Amino acid sequence: MLRGLVLGIVLTVLVIFAGIQLVPFGRRHTNPPARQEPAWDSPRTRELAVRACYDCHSNETEWPWYSNVAPISWVMQIDVTNGRADLNFSRWDQPQREARNMAQEVQEGDMPPAYYPLVHPGAHLTQAERDELVRGLQATFAASPPPATAATGAGETRGRDEEAARGERP
Ligand code: HEC
Repeated sequence: MLRGLVLGIVLTVLVIFAGIQLVPFGRRHTNPPARQEPAWDSPRTRELAVRACYDCHSNETEWPWYSNVAPISWVMQIDVTNGRADLNFSRWDQPQREARNMAQEVQEGDMPPAYYPLVHPGAHLTQAERDELVRGLQATFAASPPPATAATGAGETRGRDEEAARGERP
Protein backbone atom coordinates (compact mmCIF):
# COMPACT_ATOMS: atom_id res chain seq x y z
CA MET A 1 0.00 0.00 0.00
CA LEU A 2 2.68 2.49 1.10
CA ARG A 3 4.94 1.51 -1.79
CA GLY A 4 2.12 2.11 -4.21
CA LEU A 5 1.55 5.54 -2.72
CA VAL A 6 5.24 6.49 -2.93
CA LEU A 7 5.45 5.26 -6.50
CA GLY A 8 2.32 7.25 -7.34
CA ILE A 9 3.81 10.41 -5.89
CA VAL A 10 7.14 9.92 -7.67
CA LEU A 11 5.40 9.33 -10.99
CA THR A 12 3.18 12.36 -10.51
CA VAL A 13 6.21 14.56 -9.79
CA LEU A 14 7.99 13.22 -12.86
CA VAL A 15 5.00 13.84 -15.07
CA ILE A 16 4.61 17.39 -13.74
CA PHE A 17 8.36 18.03 -14.21
CA ALA A 18 8.21 16.77 -17.79
CA GLY A 19 5.03 18.74 -18.41
CA ILE A 20 6.39 22.10 -17.27
CA GLN A 21 9.29 21.70 -19.71
CA LEU A 22 6.72 22.30 -22.45
CA VAL A 23 5.90 25.79 -21.19
CA PRO A 24 7.53 28.13 -23.71
CA PHE A 25 8.28 30.93 -21.19
CA GLY A 26 11.92 31.41 -20.21
CA ARG A 27 13.64 29.94 -23.25
CA ARG A 28 14.43 32.97 -25.32
CA HIS A 29 17.68 33.82 -23.57
CA THR A 30 18.17 36.99 -25.51
CA ASN A 31 21.43 38.86 -25.32
CA PRO A 32 20.71 41.97 -27.37
CA PRO A 33 23.82 43.79 -28.61
CA ALA A 34 25.64 45.76 -25.93
CA ARG A 35 25.22 49.42 -26.87
CA GLN A 36 27.26 51.48 -24.47
CA GLU A 37 28.87 50.80 -21.11
CA PRO A 38 29.58 53.41 -18.45
CA ALA A 39 32.98 55.07 -18.58
CA TRP A 40 34.26 52.90 -15.74
CA ASP A 41 36.50 54.63 -13.21
CA SER A 42 38.87 51.64 -13.43
CA PRO A 43 39.11 48.23 -15.12
CA ARG A 44 38.90 46.69 -11.65
CA THR A 45 35.40 48.12 -11.05
CA ARG A 46 34.24 46.65 -14.33
CA GLU A 47 35.78 43.30 -13.48
CA LEU A 48 33.92 43.16 -10.16
CA ALA A 49 30.66 44.30 -11.73
CA VAL A 50 30.96 41.69 -14.48
CA ARG A 51 31.52 39.02 -11.86
CA ALA A 52 28.72 40.04 -9.51
CA CYS A 53 26.15 41.94 -11.57
CA TYR A 54 26.37 41.27 -15.31
CA ASP A 55 24.30 38.11 -15.47
CA CYS A 56 21.22 40.12 -14.48
CA HIS A 57 22.16 43.71 -15.27
CA SER A 58 23.69 43.64 -18.75
CA ASN A 59 23.10 42.24 -22.20
CA GLU A 60 26.00 39.84 -21.62
CA THR A 61 24.12 37.29 -19.54
CA GLU A 62 25.68 33.86 -19.36
CA TRP A 63 22.96 31.28 -19.82
CA PRO A 64 24.18 27.93 -18.41
CA TRP A 65 22.64 24.63 -19.49
CA TYR A 66 20.28 24.54 -16.51
CA SER A 67 18.80 27.84 -17.65
CA ASN A 68 16.90 25.61 -20.08
CA VAL A 69 15.34 23.56 -17.32
CA ALA A 70 12.02 24.70 -15.87
CA PRO A 71 11.38 25.99 -13.23
CA ILE A 72 14.97 27.35 -12.98
CA SER A 73 14.55 28.85 -16.44
CA TRP A 74 11.50 30.82 -15.24
CA VAL A 75 13.32 32.25 -12.23
CA MET A 76 16.28 33.28 -14.37
CA GLN A 77 14.10 34.83 -17.05
CA ILE A 78 12.25 36.91 -14.47
CA ASP A 79 15.50 37.97 -12.76
CA VAL A 80 17.13 39.04 -16.00
CA THR A 81 14.06 40.86 -17.31
CA ASN A 82 13.51 42.75 -14.04
CA GLY A 83 17.23 43.28 -13.47
CA ARG A 84 17.79 44.78 -16.93
CA ALA A 85 14.70 46.97 -16.58
CA ASP A 86 16.10 48.58 -13.41
CA LEU A 87 19.74 48.78 -14.41
CA ASN A 88 21.47 47.70 -17.60
CA PHE A 89 25.20 48.34 -17.85
CA SER A 90 25.03 47.62 -21.59
CA ARG A 91 22.66 50.51 -22.28
CA TRP A 92 24.35 53.44 -20.64
CA ASP A 93 23.21 55.65 -23.51
CA GLN A 94 19.66 55.24 -22.15
CA PRO A 95 18.11 56.30 -18.81
CA GLN A 96 18.62 53.68 -16.07
CA ARG A 97 16.08 54.24 -13.36
CA GLU A 98 18.03 52.59 -10.54
CA ALA A 99 21.59 53.54 -11.51
CA ARG A 100 21.89 56.08 -8.73
CA ASN A 101 21.21 53.38 -6.13
CA MET A 102 23.69 50.80 -7.37
CA ALA A 103 26.51 51.50 -4.92
CA GLN A 104 24.10 51.63 -2.01
CA GLU A 105 22.51 48.28 -2.93
CA VAL A 106 25.94 46.66 -2.83
CA GLN A 107 26.92 48.44 0.37
CA GLU A 108 23.79 47.28 2.15
CA GLY A 109 24.29 43.74 0.92
CA ASP A 110 21.02 43.71 -1.05
CA MET A 111 22.80 43.11 -4.36
CA PRO A 112 23.73 40.67 -5.69
CA PRO A 113 20.75 38.69 -4.31
CA ALA A 114 21.82 36.40 -1.45
CA TYR A 115 21.08 33.17 -3.34
CA TYR A 116 23.16 34.11 -6.35
CA PRO A 117 26.71 33.45 -5.05
CA LEU A 118 25.49 30.07 -3.79
CA VAL A 119 24.81 28.91 -7.34
CA HIS A 120 27.56 31.09 -8.81
CA PRO A 121 30.53 30.85 -6.44
CA GLY A 122 32.57 33.07 -8.76
CA ALA A 123 30.23 35.95 -7.96
CA HIS A 124 30.96 35.85 -4.26
CA LEU A 125 32.49 39.12 -3.07
CA THR A 126 34.72 39.32 -0.02
CA GLN A 127 34.12 42.30 2.25
CA ALA A 128 37.19 44.00 0.75
CA GLU A 129 35.91 43.42 -2.78
CA ARG A 130 32.49 44.67 -1.80
CA ASP A 131 34.01 47.91 -0.44
CA GLU A 132 36.08 48.25 -3.60
CA LEU A 133 33.01 47.79 -5.81
CA VAL A 134 30.99 50.31 -3.78
CA ARG A 135 33.70 52.95 -4.20
CA GLY A 136 34.11 52.09 -7.87
CA LEU A 137 30.38 52.31 -8.60
CA GLN A 138 30.15 55.64 -6.76
CA ALA A 139 33.06 57.06 -8.75
CA THR A 140 31.70 55.68 -12.02
CA PHE A 141 28.24 57.11 -11.43
CA ALA A 142 29.67 60.50 -10.44
CA ALA A 143 31.78 60.76 -13.58
CA SER A 144 29.56 58.89 -16.02
CA PRO A 145 25.86 58.86 -15.10
CA PRO A 146 23.39 57.57 -17.68
CA PRO A 147 21.26 60.29 -19.35
CA ALA A 148 18.23 61.49 -17.40
CA THR A 149 15.99 61.21 -20.46
CA ALA A 150 16.27 59.19 -23.62
CA ALA A 151 18.39 60.74 -26.34
CA THR A 152 15.53 60.36 -28.81
CA GLY A 153 13.47 62.72 -26.66
CA ALA A 154 10.68 60.17 -26.55
CA GLY A 155 11.35 59.12 -22.96
CA GLU A 156 11.82 55.75 -21.39
CA THR A 157 8.49 54.33 -22.53
CA ARG A 158 9.48 54.50 -26.14
CA GLY A 159 12.69 52.61 -25.36
CA ARG A 160 10.65 49.89 -23.72
CA ASP A 161 8.30 49.53 -26.64
CA GLU A 162 11.27 49.24 -28.93
CA GLU A 163 12.72 46.58 -26.68
CA ALA A 164 9.47 44.68 -26.73
CA ALA A 165 9.41 44.89 -30.51
CA ARG A 166 12.93 43.49 -30.70
CA GLY A 167 12.02 40.72 -28.30
CA GLU A 168 14.22 41.92 -25.47
CA ARG A 169 11.24 42.07 -23.15
CA PRO A 170 8.50 39.47 -22.92
C1 HEC B 1 20.80 37.07 -10.00
C2 HEC B 1 20.40 38.30 -10.59
C3 HEC B 1 20.98 39.59 -10.08
C4 HEC B 1 22.29 39.91 -9.82
C5 HEC B 1 23.50 39.02 -9.98
C6 HEC B 1 22.30 41.29 -9.41
N1 HEC B 1 21.03 41.79 -9.42
FE1 HEC B 1 20.49 43.70 -9.02
N2 HEC B 1 18.54 43.23 -9.33
C7 HEC B 1 18.07 41.99 -9.74
C8 HEC B 1 16.64 42.06 -9.87
C9 HEC B 1 15.75 40.90 -10.30
C10 HEC B 1 16.25 43.35 -9.53
C11 HEC B 1 14.86 43.92 -9.51
C12 HEC B 1 14.44 43.96 -8.10
C13 HEC B 1 13.03 43.62 -7.95
O1 HEC B 1 12.28 43.71 -8.92
O2 HEC B 1 12.69 43.25 -6.81
C14 HEC B 1 17.46 44.07 -9.20
C15 HEC B 1 17.49 45.39 -8.79
C16 HEC B 1 18.64 46.12 -8.60
C17 HEC B 1 18.68 47.53 -8.29
C18 HEC B 1 17.46 48.39 -8.05
C19 HEC B 1 17.11 48.37 -6.58
C20 HEC B 1 15.94 47.53 -6.30
O3 HEC B 1 15.93 46.89 -5.22
O4 HEC B 1 15.00 47.50 -7.09
C21 HEC B 1 19.97 47.89 -8.23
C22 HEC B 1 20.51 49.28 -7.95
C23 HEC B 1 20.76 46.70 -8.48
N3 HEC B 1 19.93 45.64 -8.70
C24 HEC B 1 22.13 46.66 -8.51
C25 HEC B 1 22.89 45.49 -8.64
C26 HEC B 1 24.33 45.46 -8.60
C27 HEC B 1 25.23 46.69 -8.45
C28 HEC B 1 24.70 44.16 -8.73
C29 HEC B 1 26.09 43.57 -8.67
C30 HEC B 1 26.83 43.83 -7.48
C31 HEC B 1 23.49 43.37 -8.88
N4 HEC B 1 22.42 44.22 -8.81
C32 HEC B 1 23.45 42.00 -9.06
C33 HEC B 1 18.83 40.88 -10.00
C34 HEC B 1 20.20 40.79 -9.82
